[in-house]
Amino acid sequence: VNVQTVGRTGYHFQPEKHWINETKTPMYFNGFYHLFYQYNPNGSVWGNIVWAHSVSKDLINWINLEPAIYPSKPFDQFGTWSGSATILPGNKPIILYTGIIDANKTQVQNYAVPANISDPYLREWIKPDNNPLIVPDASINKTQFRDPTTAWMGRDGHWRTIIGSGRKRRGLAIMYRSKDFIKWVKAKHPLHSTAVTGNWECPDFYPVSLQGTNGVDQYGEEHKYVLTNNMDVTRFDYYTIGKYDTKKDRFIPDNGSIDSWKGLRLDYGNFYATKSFYDPSKNRRVIWAWANESDIQPEDAIAKGWAGIQLIPRKVWLDSSGKQLVQWPVEELDALRTQKVQLSNKKLNNGEKVEVAGITPAQADVEVTFSFASLDKAESFDPTWADLYAQDVCALKGSNVQGQLGPFGLATLASQNLEENTPVFFRIFKAQQNYKVLMCSDATRSTLKHNETMYKPSFAGYVDVDLVATKKLSLRSLIDNSVVESFGAGGKTCITSRVYPTLAVNEKAHLFVFNNGTEPITIETLDAWSMSKAKIN
Ligand code: FRU
Repeated sequence: VNVQTVGRTGYHFQPEKHWINETKTPMYFNGFYHLFYQYNPNGSVWGNIVWAHSVSKDLINWINLEPAIYPSKPFDQFGTWSGSATILPGNKPIILYTGIIDANKTQVQNYAVPANISDPYLREWIKPDNNPLIVPDASINKTQFRDPTTAWMGRDGHWRTIIGSGRKRRGLAIMYRSKDFIKWVKAKHPLHSTAVTGNWECPDFYPVSLQGTNGVDQYGEEHKYVLTNNMDVTRFDYYTIGKYDTKKDRFIPDNGSIDSWKGLRLDYGNFYATKSFYDPSKNRRVIWAWANESDIQPEDAIAKGWAGIQLIPRKVWLDSSGKQLVQWPVEELDALRTQKVQLSNKKLNNGEKVEVAGITPAQADVEVTFSFASLDKAESFDPTWADLYAQDVCALKGSNVQGQLGPFGLATLASQNLEENTPVFFRIFKAQQNYKVLMCSDATRSTLKHNETMYKPSFAGYVDVDLVATKKLSLRSLIDNSVVESFGAGGKTCITSRVYPTLAVNEKAHLFVFNNGTEPITIETLDAWSMSKAKIN
């Protein structure tokens, strides 16, 4: 295979070649982080899926190992799909995964255990003969029954796991219970279900602390809970905050939460099938996601010889409002920062832009805080936009459409004259009761390649910040050749874009800060770093 190097990432995880999709079994065990992910060992489009396996001491630099799980038994000979790891008492890891047992894609749940628990890398995994553990009963759609979660123990001492499913147009998180992790019994009710969302892939369910940013791993009633699922139909990750009624074994969404297509998203961009894990070494919860390519034709992937990246793992916690999550790249990433430049107290008038020079803009980490004198001049939010997705509003009000307070932000992966660039920016609107902050990561002009089938959306989300109190907005972007991962307002709104510039490549890429609003804004502080390559081998 010829592997095309342009567009390959420097510090985001990618195998040397071929197709990847999600990581579903991150875990920390005896000093190593394990990454297992869906991988095609024979090509750069989806197929022949095995569980590729890498280990790391810091979640950033990786040692690649042989695939841990691959089709070989009657209970998985047509596929080894996603699943999760659980660490059983006595420090014993166990994996639950979905096996495909026939050409009709019938799905069952299997388990695997390390062949040699004293091997620090846990290279080899065994799939015992008493598999499958769970087969779909007559009420379950056999081809939509997959991706078991990390199991948790209830107060009765029994394990629970949920499995993504769908019945007609209802999305389901079907629950199973077990005393010994071997014999599983379906619960009467799913943990949760939602009408008209279609099938749920890769559900995840975990507690978050009401206070502070530490992770928790005990499924007690004193916590809030996060239920995430991936809707097959839209190919996005959604989450809902709620409570867990441990007696009834039901998830109860908080009042006012929307657990459907207009609900909260972990990331408003190219980001799918997250999976969280609790990291005991740093007492945090970490989520991980996969971003596929935006040049979506199979020919594109075949020409490149690779497809898909893992995004930077993010620490996740509950915002002090209790209404949403906050996410931030794991602190270990900072070790890759090298050359640094700074700006401060720099005013930008309407139409002005300033270049961030002195770093490698194609592979960088940048943090900026903007401030503005007053909110009085913010343009009005058209009430009819309330029915639109943020992404549609961003399509109407792009980075070049002059506003009052905004658009302002970063022009990433930019060519000298901005023929190509992926702007990540804010725009502030005055709404009836409050201000509305729109954050966009707009791929519309990311490349001059006139590829009709290229996916170039103007991804966007709203940012729930109290601007009246702070009069400040911060933005961090992780720029890495063909990916821009952005975190608005300290990680309240996150957006990832995959883009393929043709001019803004390697040392020809630029980074600018711009303001296209009539009101001046100030760059209070800006710190930008060149990023070294992660060691992945
Ligand atoms: C999600 C998904 C999962 C499935 C896996 C197969 O991307 O479709 O539901 O287990 O990929 O690779």
